[in-house]
Amino acid sequence: MSKTDVLVVRGGNRLSGKVPVSGAKNSILPLLFGTLLAEGDHTFHNVPELSDVTSCQEILKFLNADLSFLEPGQVRVRVKSSSDRQIPYELMRKMRASILALGPLVAKYGEAEVPLPGGCAIGSRPVDLHLKGLEKLGATIELSGGMIKATARGGLKPNRYLFDFPTVTGTENLMMAAALTPGETCLENVAKEPEIVQLAEFLKGLGVEIEGAGTGTMLIFGKKPGDLKPNKVATVVIPDRVEAATLLLAGPMTGGDVWIDRAVGDYLGSFKEKVIEAGGKWETDDSDSSIRLNFQNGIQATQVKTAVYPGFPTDLQSQWMAFMCLANGTSQISETIFENRFMHVQELMRLGAKITVEGKTASVRGENPSNFSGARVMATDLRASASLVLLALTINGESQIEGLEHLDRGYEKFSQKMQKLGADITRVKL
Ligand code: UD1
Repeated sequence: MSKTDVLVVRGGNRLSGKVPVSGAKNSILPLLFGTLLAEGDHTFHNVPELSDVTSCQEILKFLNADLSFLEPGQVRVRVKSSSDRQIPYELMRKMRASILALGPLVAKYGEAEVPLPGGCAIGSRPVDLHLKGLEKLGATIELSGGMIKATARGGLKPNRYLFDFPTVTGTENLMMAAALTPGETCLENVAKEPEIVQLAEFLKGLGVEIEGAGTGTMLIFGKKPGDLKPNKVATVVIPDRVEAATLLLAGPMTGGDVWIDRAVGDYLGSFKEKVIEAGGKWETDDSDSSIRLNFQNGIQATQVKTAVYPGFPTDLQSQWMAFMCLANGTSQISETIFENRFMHVQELMRLGAKITVEGKTASVRGENPSNFSGARVMATDLRASASLVLLALTINGESQIEGLEHLDRGYEKFSQKMQKLGADITRVKL
């Protein structure tokens, strides 16, 4: 987990075999913050071991909630009342998703103070819509000294709130706040991701009534603090759709035969459409539990434009770009969600990729793998790191990938899974 670790990839092997998908990072994080709403023991299965989960564990510990791994993948969070309402910057700075503590805390205690998330590599990522939503529920928001202070002394009040944009963590923050706001709250233009639906199911298990999760409008009938109780059965974290798609691409990119187990095809709808448009066959095994991409006639250049779910995920944009580096022809890739999510372009180009960027669109000229060459590259964000590994796997030669702290945030046992598929990939300490 050291910042100085480097991933050494000697590409050119055809990957084959079967690996499972881990639990979704973007699901377990809101679920863990959601535990704060109900005191007692919460259990989760299929929890990925990621540094973001460790960062969340530290915040929960500070808030008197003890997260322990009972065995690999199985977690118990024991939540008790806390007198702490102000989360220190050192705990929050590692992970932007820590803003998810704000909604549950202000709803439960009537006050909370968390650091204002800073900018990050992929864009400024403001939280104005989270804060406007909490204000709609009656919270007073003060910004000072880099902190967000939310107060609602007599508790939050139910209301209607229409998001300007269907922000994912914004929707989750408001869902959790509304869960402890007695009465009916209506959230409109909300995010529809599978992770939102899982959070809604979890909250229902605590005793909250929720209608419309997975659609653009959600009705939440919140309860009083103290009325919510932990789910009686363990919550099984849904498979990570971004990891599944990343691993799937490793098959055709290396000319290999890769099956991904436990992936949910329904979560991958827009990706599947694009795979088919690029000339691939989407194959599932008899039990429908494993997926493989089959590109017998080469990869065709295929345009993608990122969009909110169920559109093409921004979290797959860089991996698709690495894929398109091997396509026949030139493809356009447009990023509409984050303003600065092309940092990987320069690094892919260091490996020999031919990419030009104009505004929000990158043009990628597909090349024969023999035109790429191994190089030392720097991962600039979580998904960018995966795109560099994917392209490096196709290159006959050695690449060294730095910046692994990003990979560790969101891909569980990534190099081990690639090794299992036959990749020559080693993590070394410098
Ligand atoms: C979540 C995901 C992340 C994914 C992203 C988009 C988690 C933990 N992270 O991040 O992996 O890349 O969704 O699918 O689930 N915005 C505002 N104001 C706000 C909130 C967001 O302007 O108050 C903007 C952001 O700057 C960005 C866009 O809305 O341009 C989408 O952001 P959002 O959906 O909030 O992403 P996250 O929830 O941070």
